[in-house]
Amino acid sequence: MLVLGIESSCDETAAAVIKDGREIKSNVIASQIETHAPFGGVVPELASREHLVRIAPVVASALEEAGVTIGQIDGIAVTQGPGLIGSLLVGIGFAKSLAMMAGKAIVGVNHIEGHIYSVGFENDAIEYPAVALIVSGGHTTLFLIPEEGRYAVLGRTRDDAAGEAYDKVAKLLGLGYPGGPVIDRLAKFGDPAAAEMVFTIPRMESPNLDFSFSGLKTAVLRYVRENGIAAVTDGDEPDGRIIDLLASFQDKVIRSLLVQLRSAARRHRPRTVILAGGVACNSALRASADAEELGAPVYYPSPILTTDNAAMIAAAGYSRLVKGENDGLEFAPSVSMKLENVFLEGYEAPVGARYKV
Ligand code: KG4
Ligand code: ZN
Repeated sequence: MLVLGIESSCDETAAAVIKDGREIKSNVIASQIETHAPFGGVVPELASREHLVRIAPVVASALEEAGVTIGQIDGIAVTQGPGLIGSLLVGIGFAKSLAMMAGKAIVGVNHIEGHIYSVGFENDAIEYPAVALIVSGGHTTLFLIPEEGRYAVLGRTRDDAAGEAYDKVAKLLGLGYPGGPVIDRLAKFGDPAAAEMVFTIPRMESPNLDFSFSGLKTAVLRYVRENGIAAVTDGDEPDGRIIDLLASFQDKVIRSLLVQLRSAARRHRPRTVILAGGVACNSALRASADAEELGAPVYYPSPILTTDNAAMIAAAGYSRLVKGENDGLEFAPSVSMKLENVFLEGYEAPVGARYKV
């Protein structure tokens, strides 16, 4: 069964063809990093405009690289949400026109579920129950997956996403966008104990395994001001103080992610642990998670499948298309689409929490 996946929820225009849910025939990603880099973050209007320009050639390349025509595709999977409304509309509009023109089944896929499926290409099949930590620029959510397609939220960020914290710290220090890869590279050379920040990892109250990163971002800002640290200007190498600060920041992000992952593993005894989303590219996070005694193998996607792509969307869509499901042409983009269809007893939605999409 051949599935065409289309992803356009944020700043990557992507299309992929996959066979039988697990074999990648093509995986085309047009990144908009250069467009948004001067602004230190994604500018929604520019993103929609660029998706419009790129979507047709990206889909054409994905079909061509896979050596198939649209007629040979068995179904289409497109990101329905969460994401930026203008960006989602471009992908969904294009996917629906293709489905209508070629007479194909189409399903709308939750982007976060796509990230979960991103580990399915290069690892053994996921065994359930599984625990998944999805850490990206827009999301930091911990799930219990009792069986395929069933999701209970164990915790989520109460403020910023982990990747957002990376991006904001990098912007503050003049290190460019996106912040994750550059901080990953530089933090290796720093001493996390050298930059003492007044910040303790928040102990989120049980039963929720929630996260919070805005306090850490503020602690970095305070440290920068109090120590008279100047942002790096174009082309300059950051000095030792910045590198130590980055090491300290990263150490705290990783520790706060792992403390909750550890609790989830202890409580729910998963048979597979999934770590996915852009921040799961982080080499120190991977090394620390591997060193944890979680009682189950940890599955990651390879870097190209970790950040946004359409192969993961096709894989998540395959699980529904293969059962004969078809959302037809009526479904709409869902900016804050939730991935939650199991509600655990004792889990309380935090009052006044600000959920980011
Ligand atoms: O999954 P993704 O491509 O997009 C969203 O769905 O948000 O994640 C992008 C995020 C950015 O915040 C980026 O800074 C972060 O992933 N990221 C990293 C690394 N590579 C990308 N964060 C830490 N370490 C990395 N190596
Ligand atoms: Zn993503």
